[in-house]
Amino acid sequence: MKIRGRVLSVASECVPLIKTGGLADVVGALPAALRPFGWEMRVLLPAYRRLRGHLGAMREVWREPGLWGGEGVVFAGAVDGVDVLLLDAPHLFDRDGGPYSGAGGDFGDNAQRFAALSWVGARMAREGVDGWKADVLHAHDWQAGFASAYLTYGGSGGVGSVITVHNIAFQGWADAGMIDTLRLPREAFHPGHLEYYGGLSSLKAGLVTADRITTVSPTYAAELMRPEFGMGLQGVITARAAVVSGILNGVDTDLWSPEAEPVPFGVKAMKGKAANRAALCAEFGMAEPAGPLAIVVSRLTDQKGIDLLPAVVPDFVAAGGALIVLGSGDPALEGAMRGLEARYPGKVVVRIGYDEALSHRLFSGADAVLVPSRFEPCGLTQMYGLRYGAVPVVAAVGGLADTVIHASPAAMAAGVATGVQFHPTDAVAFGQALRQLGALFADRKAWAQVQRNAMSHPVGWETSAADYAALYDGLRK
Ligand code: ADP
Ligand code: GLC
Repeated sequence: MKIRGRVLSVASECVPLIKTGGLADVVGALPAALRPFGWEMRVLLPAYRRLRGHLGAMREVWREPGLWGGEGVVFAGAVDGVDVLLLDAPHLFDRDGGPYSGAGGDFGDNAQRFAALSWVGARMAREGVDGWKADVLHAHDWQAGFASAYLTYGGSGGVGSVITVHNIAFQGWADAGMIDTLRLPREAFHPGHLEYYGGLSSLKAGLVTADRITTVSPTYAAELMRPEFGMGLQGVITARAAVVSGILNGVDTDLWSPEAEPVPFGVKAMKGKAANRAALCAEFGMAEPAGPLAIVVSRLTDQKGIDLLPAVVPDFVAAGGALIVLGSGDPALEGAMRGLEARYPGKVVVRIGYDEALSHRLFSGADAVLVPSRFEPCGLTQMYGLRYGAVPVVAAVGGLADTVIHASPAAMAAGVATGVQFHPTDAVAFGQALRQLGALFADRKAWAQVQRNAMSHPVGWETSAADYAALYDGLRK
């Protein structure tokens, strides 16, 4: 395969190394997805404490002295087929806890930590590293937002830049007084550039300086220009509308494959699905419900609309449905979920925690997956649901609106529906959607049609990878 170009991807998470959400899935999947299009991608990540074990098997390729209180050393190597560059800077990243927070909450120096990642990313893109010169720097979310700013203010070296917004809710806020510390030019501290409500935002810095802005679905791209979804940045994004595009995420169809599960199934072999449903109910001590067995696999946060469940579950359960929730997050929502489990023994099961293997069993056995998000840039679990015949019931926002075909009368008559959408994200509309799900489930022919359509709907990376490749092609200088 002829190499068309090289992309340095700069991110804070990447499967299989470190994950708190869908960002990691996407960053980890892109390199393999882009390869058939001739785009070679390396991913720069911080060497968090739990990643330092990999360094021994890697090669040192870069030294960066004076990196906010210590030296940074970059190591190169391949992990599970992904070419990674790990930035080892123990004073910034060798800590207990997750990528952004420890036992005491968010780390107080997150601005410097991710400025360091962005600084090294920009320098390696500009100068080349390990005999490898990037054509494009691809930054993900606020954590990499300063990377294109450093290229803009310090010289781009002919490197094009893209920033992808995975979630506008996180904006990388820093005090205005940090401008020198963050190695940004004071002249750029005005509303058209770095200034953001009197302070600094690494995400805004990325949005004003990157050559292109993408987000992870076409609908979210449009939503971001409106105050209800833009979260303060709608004006910044609207001003750059000509370079904004929405490219849907795909899912890793090798990792998420019903044919590869312990009890395999597929469109033409649904017996396996029935066996998985029975096994799942047995695992959780539930009688198999007469109505749909629904699941939720999610961060338990306000974004995800989890607080609506207590209002809709009573009717859903009374109508014969059952629910299994897997997730963790906001303690109040965890408590609300436990409350539901206590109130509906044998009908609602809740597992607080993060469990990849269990999530596979859930999708394998479930009839439906519920995603009642208030906003959802793309969302991955509705796509796992499609692939596994766990019919998605989703709020009609962002990528959820773009990936699920609502079972309207027209779509049913045309034979194309893949799930149920509702709008707005409130308990009334959600409850109505669950009644529609129940009715569909009870109509064997209609259900078989929707489930078949869902499982046949393409959710892989092919189309979107072609879109990214075209975007990179347009940036080669
Ligand atoms: P977000 O990134 O906003 O959390 P996405 O739907 O894009 O939402 O991605 C979430 C990812 O995290 C999916 O791969 C999903 O399966 C996974 N996930 C979320 N919570 C859990 C959990 N408790 N256990 C296992 N996987 C989870
Ligand atoms: C963010 C969004 C989610 C999206 C993921 C990957 O975490 O909340 O909707 O799927 O990023 O792009």
